[in-house]
Amino acid sequence: MKSIWVINGPNLNLLGIREPGIYGSLSLQSIEDHLRKVADNAGIDITFYQSNHEGAIIDRIHEAMGQADGILLNPGALTHYSYAVRDAISSVKVPTVEVHLSNIHARESFRHTSVIAPVCAGQISGFGATSYELGFHALLDVLERPNS
Ligand code: DQA
Repeated sequence: MKSIWVINGPNLNLLGIREPGIYGSLSLQSIEDHLRKVADNAGIDITFYQSNHEGAIIDRIHEAMGQADGILLNPGALTHYSYAVRDAISSVKVPTVEVHLSNIHARESFRHTSVIAPVCAGQISGFGATSYELGFHALLDVLERPNS
């Protein structure tokens, strides 16, 4: 059975409370519950992790080596400046899809850049909680490619 790790960065524990006009009213727990159902239907083992700490996110990405087939990553604001998270992803070589609830390209200019996206298979941004589901299916597709 393939294993996908979903990793969420800073402030995503506050989903549902935090700026609901931008991020929606669903909690991270309810997004994860839904994603678990989607994964069960697809016959995929799914594991969730969230941290507000850059180093903990990096440690978790390192742990994915040899354990996870793919990573679904919402790095939160780390997206825009964390070369350390970027280097972690390129080091472990676990196929990764970057997801965002909001459309980062339609917001403040500092959000237009992702330093993470170039080391990911791709980025999904702007579909609210559905971004995670779209990202999950995109990641499965990537994992089915030869030599992924
Ligand atoms: C976010 C977008 C980031 O710019 C922001 O810092 C977040 C959430 C999103 O999912 O839309 O924390 O990653």
